[in-house]
Amino acid sequence: MTAEEAKKKIEQLTKEVNFHNDLYYQQSRTQISDFEFDQLLERLVSLEKQFPQFKSPDSPTQRVGGTITKEFASVYHKYPMLSLSNTYSQKELEDFDARVARGLEGDSYEYFCELKFDGVSISLTYENGKLTRGVTRGDGVRGDDVTANIKTIRSIPLIIKGDAIPPVFEVRGEVFLPKDVFLQLNKEREDIGEERYANARNTASGTVKMQDSSEVARRKLDCFVYYLLGDETGLNTHEESIQKLESWKFKVSPTYKKCKNIAMVLEYISHWETRRQDLPLETDGVVIKVNDLEQQQLLGYTAKSPRWAIAYKYKAQNMSTRLNGVTYQVGRTGAVTPVAELEPIFLAGTTVKRASLHNANEIARLDLHLGDYVFVEKGGEIIPKVTGVDHERRSNNLKPVVYITKCPECNTKLVRVEGEAAFYCPNVNGCPPQIKGRIEHFIQRKAMDIDSLGERTIHQLYELGLVKSPADLYDLKRDDILKLEGYKDKSAKNLMDGIEKSKSVPFENVLFAIGIRYVGKTVAEKLARYFKSIDQIAIATVDELLAAPEIGEKIAKSIYDFFQKPENRREIKRLMNAGLQFKTQAKEPEKESDVLGGKSFVISGTFERYERDQLQEIILKNGGRILSGVSGKLDYLLAGDNMGPSKLAKAEKLGVKIISEKDFEKLLKG
Ligand code: IVH
Repeated sequence: MTAEEAKKKIEQLTKEVNFHNDLYYQQSRTQISDFEFDQLLERLVSLEKQFPQFKSPDSPTQRVGGTITKEFASVYHKYPMLSLSNTYSQKELEDFDARVARGLEGDSYEYFCELKFDGVSISLTYENGKLTRGVTRGDGVRGDDVTANIKTIRSIPLIIKGDAIPPVFEVRGEVFLPKDVFLQLNKEREDIGEERYANARNTASGTVKMQDSSEVARRKLDCFVYYLLGDETGLNTHEESIQKLESWKFKVSPTYKKCKNIAMVLEYISHWETRRQDLPLETDGVVIKVNDLEQQQLLGYTAKSPRWAIAYKYKAQNMSTRLNGVTYQVGRTGAVTPVAELEPIFLAGTTVKRASLHNANEIARLDLHLGDYVFVEKGGEIIPKVTGVDHERRSNNLKPVVYITKCPECNTKLVRVEGEAAFYCPNVNGCPPQIKGRIEHFIQRKAMDIDSLGERTIHQLYELGLVKSPADLYDLKRDDILKLEGYKDKSAKNLMDGIEKSKSVPFENVLFAIGIRYVGKTVAEKLARYFKSIDQIAIATVDELLAAPEIGEKIAKSIYDFFQKPENRREIKRLMNAGLQFKTQAKEPEKESDVLGGKSFVISGTFERYERDQLQEIILKNGGRILSGVSGKLDYLLAGDNMGPSKLAKAEKLGVKIISEKDFEKLLKG
């Protein structure tokens, strides 16, 4: 491909991707499948890598990440990121108002109220309309430069368009994980046997500091902004700056309100007290700001916080209610979760009947007794918590809650794995919720995608003894299905068709579906790309598994253990015989150029800008060949960091050209 052609192609792909992105994010519509979209994007990524000079600064490829940052640079904030003084009391708010009035010496003033978003504060710098830096708060004076990760957040504009854009300005806001995304993430973690994350805020904070920005992109962070700073903004009020931010396409929460006096502020506070539960993110209070920017300057700052603003924090709503019992839920992985069964109470807008007690340690920590009155708290978070026992109301004759020793579903003695908080039911092949859970996991959309099969049908199939493992699904006959309640000719055919269709879902889906602990969809994709077939994975040693990209000790060991079990190997054999995909479909990579003209490569070590499989793909797409070992016939050894010394020595001895990542990029340009 000539440079001219590449330029055109990049422009065209950029347009196409932007079009589909807009359709999806602005209008919630789609015209092409996820797969087709990913292909467009992948092609753009690969062309931009070869011709970086044509990559536009707001290329949609930045949203998918790809940069790995080993250590974030610590950078100074241009304007320190101050905190706000906090209060929980109306009286103190009135005192604040009196101080403002005094400070402004009789001038009239207004307030601007916003909710206090409970996420991770971020400072975004724009220069000449381009996002150049995203920095965490840190200690307020300096924070971590997390720009690559921030660029994956779709609601943060990469480029600002419009008139009179200040040459340099800073925007502050709160990065958060929307409640529904957080719940989904936890559901997925539970599904693969990982521990749940405690709350959305900490998860957002951990995500912002992940090393792999493509993982950040998958997490779907969002951002509300609430502050515009700069020397030449030409603005008079905070309200104007919020409007400006909106016009520049930043996302501002529509919950703000201008208030003429402190009485209206109090109304705003009580208006949102329970309604904030319905917002897409966690909030813990209200921020009250003097609206006029000149007045803000007049009031000034203390060492730690502005005198022109204050945060009113909502008290977490707290009530006590009777603990009627503790029940235990058994998940697909056999993990047992205790649940508090409560006398229903109405708390912060909803009726609370149950609350998770997490694990046995939590029950011991709370020293729960059956019949205790326990404090139940609902803050800005999603799920109510049991925070303690009301000891004054404890009667003498109550018995402590004793954690069960046997599975509530199959009566098998529970076990505890060293280093884990949860108890497990080890009866993997005989415990009903584990069996049904595995089938539910198997058929889900991200796995075999058999949408004609639901939880209720799985339950019936299990109860009738027709299905005890995923492989049994493929032995089902039409007559079996007609035995199910509510199934007639048409619905039976529908179900059979759904099962049949699943035989063509790609290998990475199948690998996820078989339910190896800790192997989520992303890990399954990485494994499928690297090993190419289940046979290769099944014979891999722990060390060989560790060599695959992003596979750590815990996952490698879990995969290895899975394939050591004869019953798992039998199940996979049956699925293979049924015709499921256990190999990656060898797609002929679409040719992009012939600059590598049949030259052969061995890739070894780790690279700064590419994963090994990406390099492989680029070589193949540009007319090169990949060899597995160093020999006299080899043209190039593409050497990264940490490669084995013997390979290097051999290449040197045989006179093979040893090239770096940079040399390779030069080679590609022809
Ligand atoms: S304004 C000079 N507005 O609260 C202070 N902050 O305790 C500018 N926060 O670090 C901050 N929602 O992370 C402001 N609507 C909002 C906010 C907000 C959340 C956070 C922010 C800040 C902390 C201050």
